[in-house]
This record gives sequence, C-alpha cells and structure tokens, in this order.
Amino acid sequence: MLRKELHVAGLTQPLDAQSLGALLAELGVEARAHRFEVAPNPCVGAAVLAAGEVVARGYHRVWGQEHAEVDALRAARESGVPLERWDALVVTLEPCSSQGKTPPCTEAILAAGIGCVVVGSFDPDPRHRGKGIEQLRAAGLEVIVLEASPLENTSPQFLSWNDFERRRRPRPWIIAKWAQTLTGQLTPPKSVGEGRWISGSGSQAEVGLLRSRVDAIVTGIGTVLSDDPRLTVRPSAGITAPPARVVLDTALRTPTDARLFHAEPGEAAGPVHVVSLTGADFSGSRALALTEAGAQVHGLRGDDVHHLNLREVTAWLWRQGFRRVLLEAGPTLLASFLDAGFVDQVRVYTGPVPGGRGESLGSWLVASALEERLDRECGEDQVLEAFLHVR
Ligand SMILES: NC(=O)c1ccc[n+]([C@@H]2O[C@H](COP(=O)([O-])OP(=O)(O)OC[C@H]3O[C@@H](n4cnc5c(N)ncnc54)[C@H](OP(=O)(O)O)[C@@H]3O)[C@@H](O)[C@H]2O)c1
Repeated sequence: MLRKELHVAGLTQPLDAQSLGALLAELGVEARAHRFEVAPNPCVGAAVLAAGEVVARGYHRVWGQEHAEVDALRAARESGVPLERWDALVVTLEPCSSQGKTPPCTEAILAAGIGCVVVGSFDPDPRHRGKGIEQLRAAGLEVIVLEASPLENTSPQFLSWNDFERRRRPRPWIIAKWAQTLTGQLTPPKSVGEGRWISGSGSQAEVGLLRSRVDAIVTGIGTVLSDDPRLTVRPSAGITAPPARVVLDTALRTPTDARLFHAEPGEAAGPVHVVSLTGADFSGSRALALTEAGAQVHGLRGDDVHHLNLREVTAWLWRQGFRRVLLEAGPTLLASFLDAGFVDQVRVYTGPVPGGRGESLGSWLVASALEERLDRECGEDQVLEAFLHVR
C-alpha cells in the first residue's frame, strides 16, 4: 500500500493514511471487548495523537455512559501532554451530534479545542449520518473520513439495531439472562441453593450490575409465583432511575402481597407494570387490587394459545421508552421469546450443579447460531455471552 500523507494545516507533522488505517483497525478490535456491555450501541474506540504518537485511548465501555471520544479526551488531559501538541482525535465512528443518554460528542470535541478529527466510519442511521462531521467542519475543524473501521467488523449489533425492518417495527434490545445447572435446567434440585439458586455470589453481583444498566426487567408470572423475586437493584447508591419491573401475567394472577411491592432498605426498585390479556379481569377487581398494591396494570392482545402476544409486548415495551431490556424469566417465557426471534443477546451462567428440575434450554443453546460468542468464568460458574441474529 502506498504511503499517503494527509496534510492538515497546523499539525506538528503530517498524518500518514496507512498508519491511521492500522490505528483505526486496532481501536476497533479493542472496542469490541465491550460489545456485550454497550449493545445495542456501537463499539467505538478513539485515540488522541500528538506528533504522530498515540497519547491516549478511550472507549465506549457501558451502555448509556460516556462515549469513546469523551473517554479519550479525558485520558489525553490526564496524560500531561499539553493541548497545543494534540494533532488529531482518531475515532472509529463518526461523533454523535445529538443529545442521547449523554451530551453530543461534537460538543465535547469542540470544547476540547483539538483541530483535526479522523473518522473511521459513518453513522448508519440516516437521521444522523454525516451530521456530526458537518457540525465539526462548520465549526472550522479539519475532518478526514477514512472509512477504515467498517461497522460489519466493529459493531454488527449496531447495524442490526439500525436495520430498516427494525426501525420500521421498533422493539427494545432484549438480553435474556438465565442460570442453569450442568444439564441445562433452570431450577436446581430441591437440596441445592434453597431449591432456587444455581449461580454463585460473584455471578449474582454481575447480574445486579446488569440490572442497573437496563431500562426494564421482564419476567413471567411463573417466576413471580414460584420465586417471589423483588428484581431490585442492589446496592442502590448512585442509581437515579432503577429499571421498571414488568410481569407478563396473562390472567392477572400476580399476588398483591408479592415481594415486588416490598423493596428492602438499600435497594433501588423501579415501578411495577403487570401486563395482562385485555378482558382477562371481567370485574376489574384484580386490576384494582394490584393498582392499590402499587402496580400499573395494562391490557394487551393475546396470541393463538392465549398467552400474551410477544410482538404486542415488545411494541408496548418500546412505547414505554424502554430501549435495553433484561429478560429474567423461567423456561416457558424464555423459550417463547427465543422462538419468536425477539432475543438479541444472551448471558447464561452455568453453575456446578448436577441435575435439576423443569425444562432444559441446553438443546436450544446447542442448536442456535451464537454470534460473537464469549466464554468466561465467574467464580465457579461458566458464563456464556453471545448475540443472536446480528449478521
Ligand atoms: N435459573 C433462572 O435463571 C431462572 C429464572 C427465573 C425463573 N426460574 C425458575 O423457573 C421456574 C418458573 O418457570 P416458568 O416457566 O413457570 O416461569 P416463567 O417463564 O417466568 O413464566 C411463564 C408464564 O408466563 C406467562 N406468559 C405470558 N405470555 C407468555 C408467552 N407469550 N409465552 C409464554 N409464557 C407467557 C404464562 O402465564 P399464563 O399461563 O398466565 O399466560 C407462563 O406460564 C421456577 O422454578 C423458577 O425458579 C429460573
């Protein structure tokens, strides 16, 4: 490949297109390490260059939290290299230009005072594509687009999120999380973990963190009746908007004294929504009792086997403003969501527990196309993370 120098006025030395391409590729690989924490957002990496050297790198690490550009600019300030020596900010994806969960990155770049930005790919969303670049150029910055970080490589989940069909019929990004025994059952033998717990304390702490990083947690009435979970976030420190708790309960069987309505001190508990079949409660007395207990009760259409229609449920979740949703249910609801193709991401904890009760999702896991798969350990548990349907 020919070395091509990119001359930008005011830089301490010209930029070299080949090494910028290599740096963008490297940042893309590094950013992918955070794919399961940021999805459905894109994996983005950024670097600040001074005299041709990388002085700081940054990444988008957690959904809803700061973007790579802001992380890299902060790291550059902390590096001690003075701003006058910063030549360029290199970023794998065009900086965002609109307010989301965080302020627009274009503002942070303009405020930093850096004069040149090198961009590795355009935003695939037609509503945003090119806007960040335009804004920076309009403010007098030099913006070089190299298209060296294709989203197919760095962020297939973001392409799937921006897919035409998905934008036409929007639904939240759904992460199905479950714990299973070595034989794939979701309920342990009665003699293990009070007949309820499969995974260890480290895994449970991870799930607590994951709960704090979604807009809503969805469960089924089967889980409410058997486990009576609270689905709260612990510890509550620093959580301003705990995730809503949604029970899919066709016939309004949720008990009014369920622990969902009784958070414990130190826990952050989001609002409770009970979603039932329209007309399931002829007299309205169950709905009234649940409302008095603190729930918001909603009626939706059913499917052909008289459960809730999951297409309706996902559209309803979207209308509530829920974008990243955690599905923490038993095998019945999990299987329905998986079969309907509405699960985008899985996190499965396998504890060192032989046997178990109920249906196993093991054969489902073996047969599925798990994409971008990651296998790791958490204490004594094996953890599998993967995307579904992103390619
Ligand atoms: N290991 C884990 O990660 C984990 C997590 C949660 C629960 N569990 C275990 O799972 C067991 C409970 O399992 P489960 O399967 O009964 O509970 P579930 O999957 O949480 O709830 C199932 C219920 O959801 C309702 N539902 C509404 N719409 C549905 C739809 N479209 N498709 C399917 N179901 C729909 C149905 O109730 P209606 O009949 O009223 O429609 C169905 O019976 C317990 O032993 C619990 O300990 C394990």
